[in-house]
Amino acid sequence: MPQTTVARLSTLALLAATTLAPVAAQTVLKIGYTPVRDSHYGVGANVFCDEIAKGTANRYSCQHFPNSALGGEREQIEAVQLGTQDLTNVSTGALGNFVPEVKVVDIPFLFRDYDHARKVLDGAIGQDLLKKMQAKGLIGLAWGENGFRHMTNNKRAINQAGDAAGLKMRTMENKVHMAGYKTFGILPTPMAFPELFTALQQGTVDGQENPIPVILSAKFSQVQKHLSLTGHVYSPAVILITPKVWTQLSDADKKVFTSAAVAAAAAQRKRVNDDEANGIAQLKKDGMQVVEKPDGESFRKAVAPAYAEFAKEFGADRIAAIQAVK
Ligand code: PAF
Repeated sequence: MPQTTVARLSTLALLAATTLAPVAAQTVLKIGYTPVRDSHYGVGANVFCDEIAKGTANRYSCQHFPNSALGGEREQIEAVQLGTQDLTNVSTGALGNFVPEVKVVDIPFLFRDYDHARKVLDGAIGQDLLKKMQAKGLIGLAWGENGFRHMTNNKRAINQAGDAAGLKMRTMENKVHMAGYKTFGILPTPMAFPELFTALQQGTVDGQENPIPVILSAKFSQVQKHLSLTGHVYSPAVILITPKVWTQLSDADKKVFTSAAVAAAAAQRKRVNDDEANGIAQLKKDGMQVVEKPDGESFRKAVAPAYAEFAKEFGADRIAAIQAVK
């Protein structure tokens, strides 16, 4: 046989082998979150998606839907419950309406600092809360982080609790936040996050409260003048996966997904640290007037009587157990 025919035949054989080789099925999972892609939520989702692709030899990958493309947090949690959305990264602010036991972590001034909050969530209490989600048709993979929430508004500087009194402030749709903020004299106005920027721009509300990474990534400096670092409540985040996908995963893939969520949470927390360290200077440059050390004691004193109600709802021992974590 002439040399050229041999070469042509072996090329054909190679082509047939490549075309006919079984190709591993690829599943593209939809992951949604409310902040933009360049945010602590986007960083967490990027790491999660990279890790599941790596750990499953690309059998699983993600399509990202940042910036509330799939709706606010409530809609996204509902969709994950129903199985019409595969994954979401949300804060507990909205999740407590689906898994009531989770609401305990939204009590104002419950956590001393980041170290305390992260220890509680990574320890027995946090892991127990993740398990509670299963009974509500949600699989919580790992605790990530939104951050400590601070107040912004367009009326005045908030140096102490009395300065917040009378301000109409957008809050999350979360009864624990609202009960707490009422003790500061704030008029809480629950609203989904996708409506917030316009509400601030149009003056429907005077202010809002969110962690620094959200204030930065949502560009609230364009529509808010005052920022006060009240740190009045810690806002955890969690990666949720729909049981519809979870129950189809092999045990090995479940391990990959869980480790990916733990890595994502670490990256998200690191971005929160970085935004806290550098973001305040940026917000000042953007024109915000910042009260860096408001009188925290005045807020703690105001909210103290509400703890009796929180104890009735969640149990004084549960609250004490969280506070006792060192
Ligand atoms: O304010 C909120 O609604 C939440 O903090 C946000 C920005 C959606 C992140 O979880």
